[in-house]
Order: sequence, then structure tokens, then C-alpha cells
Amino acid sequence: MTTLVVYETMYGRTRDVAQAVADGCGGGGDVRLVEVGELAAGLPDDVALLVVGGPTHAFSMTRPGTRRDAGKYGRTISQTGVREWLAALTVPAGLPVAAFCTKLDSPLSGSAARAIAQRLRKLGGRLVVPAKDFYVKGTQPELLAGELDRARAWGATLIAASASR
Ligand SMILES: Cc1cc2nc3c(=O)[nH]c(=O)nc-3n(C[C@H](O)[C@H](O)[C@H](O)COP(=O)(O)O)c2cc1C
Repeated sequence: MTTLVVYETMYGRTRDVAQAVADGCGGGGDVRLVEVGELAAGLPDDVALLVVGGPTHAFSMTRPGTRRDAGKYGRTISQTGVREWLAALTVPAGLPVAAFCTKLDSPLSGSAARAIAQRLRKLGGRLVVPAKDFYVKGTQPELLAGELDRARAWGATLIAASASR
């Protein structure tokens, strides 16, 4: 079974979380961690669990404009975000899927994870656990203490959840 963990990042924190999620999934077989801009359109044939994560921008997935805003602070601007990748994606019916994001620890700040999960379900995926938020602070964002442990633990739940119906 191959687990594909796809992530987008501006400042690197979602990459850190994605790596921890992939580590957590590790007991379940082959795990591939790929930045969204490095993926060709479409899914490799052998994917049995698809996990997608990105930063929350303007309450949801990033857009070209929000990525440009992030770029003003000196970050690399990716041409393709998770939003654009998902827009072009076909998902085999019932494929186990999961979604996560990074965001500020504030109840009114939205969640890219929710939006990603919604999109994956609309594409026909089977959400195996609820969308998960991981928290950062600051404009040069740092993860809150304990978030990488939480990400590893969340990753470990995904394999079992994707096996049960
Ligand atoms: C343009 C922009 C808009 C943002 N909007 C939100 C937001 O609406 N809600 C939120 O919780 N965080 C927001 N943030 C903070 C990001 O979620 C944070 O920078 C991100 O989690 C860091 O992940 P990264 O290191 O992978 O880029 C925003 C950040 C930027 C640069």
C-alpha cells in the first residue's frame, strides 16, 4: 500500500507537519512525501491513501494573490498550490483521503484543511478522519510546541482508519 502525502508551503511549516505526518504513517508501508509543485497532474496508480495539506490563507486554501502576498516577505512563490492541483485532479471513487493544514491558533481564522477535505470528498474520495488543523504563530511562522508530535500521532491514525470501512 502506498500513502501519498502532498503538501504546499510558503514558509516551511506545512512541510514540517507533512514530514511528521508521513513519519507517523510510516508503519503502514510505502510513504511518499511530495511538494505539490513537483507532482504531475493526476495520481500515481498505486496510491491507496491520499493525504493533502497546505497553509491557510484568507480563511481557506491559498490563491495566486495570497501566495504573492506571502512572497512580499521574501518567500518562494509556487505557481501551483493545492487549490489548483485539486481543481485538475481525478480521484478514484472511494479512495481513502485525509486533509490537514497549518493556521493561526484563532477560532475565527478559517481552515484550509476543511476546504481541502470538502474538495476531496466532492471528487469522490472517502474521508477517513476529520480534517485536522495544526497551529503556528507569528508572521515568520513557527509551529506551536507539541504540533509535530500531534502530526505524527495523527499520521499514525490514518493507516488504520483507511483500512476500516
Ligand atoms: C497572505 C497570508 C494570509 C493568511 N491568512 C490566514 C488566515 O486567514 N487564517 C490563518 O489562520 N492564518 C493565515 N495566515 C497564516 C498562515 O496560515 C501561515 O503563514 C501558515 O500556516 C504557515 O505555513 P507555511 O510555513 O507552510 O507557509 C496567512 C498567511 C499569509 C502569508
